[in-house]
Amino acid sequence: MTVLLRIQNLTVEYKTRRGTARGVDNVSLELEENRTLGLAGESGCGKSTLGRSIMKLVPYPGQIVSGRIEMLLHDHVKYLKGVIERGIVNIIDLNEDQMRGLRGKEIAYIFQDPMTSLNPMITIETHFKEIMKAHYPDIEEEEIIGRAYEILDGLGILPERITDYPHQFSGGMRQRVMIGLGLALRPKLLIADEPTTSLDVIVEAQILEEVAELKDVFNLTMILITHNLGVLAQTADDIAIMYAGRVMELSSTESLFDDPLHPYAKALLESVPDVTHPEKKLSWIPGAPPDLTDPIPGCMYNPRCPHAMDICRTVQPDLITVDGGRLVACHLFGGEKSHGTS
Ligand SMILES: Nc1ncnc2c1ncn2[C@@H]1O[C@H](COP(=O)(O)OP(=O)(O)OP(=O)(O)O)[C@@H](O)[C@H]1O
Ligand SMILES: [Mg+2]
Repeated sequence: MTVLLRIQNLTVEYKTRRGTARGVDNVSLELEENRTLGLAGESGCGKSTLGRSIMKLVPYPGQIVSGRIEMLLHDHVKYLKGVIERGIVNIIDLNEDQMRGLRGKEIAYIFQDPMTSLNPMITIETHFKEIMKAHYPDIEEEEIIGRAYEILDGLGILPERITDYPHQFSGGMRQRVMIGLGLALRPKLLIADEPTTSLDVIVEAQILEEVAELKDVFNLTMILITHNLGVLAQTADDIAIMYAGRVMELSSTESLFDDPLHPYAKALLESVPDVTHPEKKLSWIPGAPPDLTDPIPGCMYNPRCPHAMDICRTVQPDLITVDGGRLVACHLFGGEKSHGTS
């Protein structure tokens, strides 16, 4: 398998008047081509910060302070001459001009709220034209329309609706349009940040199914960010559970659901209703996620963890490989080798 994205020791900080918050704290992970990685964890754990770092779009006052984000690109990417080596670039090294070339074309990012990303003054057709002409100034209009039709059709939108304005669409349709625009330039990597959170569960399920089909047609690799572990159960190949800016566990979806290793992953899964076992009591995680401007020593989860030991209060656990390639950052587990951690 080919690795498309390799993140190494990535740290992102937000410097605020209240102090510095590490939104992403020394994260390392790899993503193979054509796979879907889910990012899950409670609000504020760093999912969006990690996703946006890959596009170099961390919002102010956030800043990538260290690490590497390597991506495998086509060798013919001319505007990256000098910074591309054997098809690989370190995104952190690229300037704004180079990033503009990469965004949309190699990596697309779908934001949660489509209304803030769609321009209410222009039709869907014009949205497609603007995006494609920005990257391919000589592209024929016919080709743009042809591509737009193919994508919209895959997302269940009638081609004739291409002349409509964003407000003429329902919430679900607008989100489909956003996904369609994300795919217009045939990116290799699609990062979808809570793409269906504001929709009802039926529309959500339909959209996720359509995206899964398009993923195969377009040979996409995906990062899917969501609070909803049920969504990830259906769509992700692997899941990274984040807490306080760190990856606590990274396992295949199947292993995670069968047997979560990290106490936090376990607690998160137990807080999801299980319709097949209605007799099971739904639990919640006591306490609240930590204030990242005031980090505590040891494992950031220790105040909420029922298994916390003395070492957990003093030493931050490394993310280590255990049990056939699963990764976990917890003192309850001994491991085979260290995986790019502090
Ligand atoms: N604009 C900001 N200013 C200051 N700190 C920020 C800002 N955005 C994020 N942070 C810090 O980074 C942490 C991670 O935020 P992030 O938005 O990445 O979390 P998330 O997992 O995407 O949360 P959610 O599920 O609510 O979208 C936050 O807990 C906060 O400490
Ligand atoms: Mg977020």
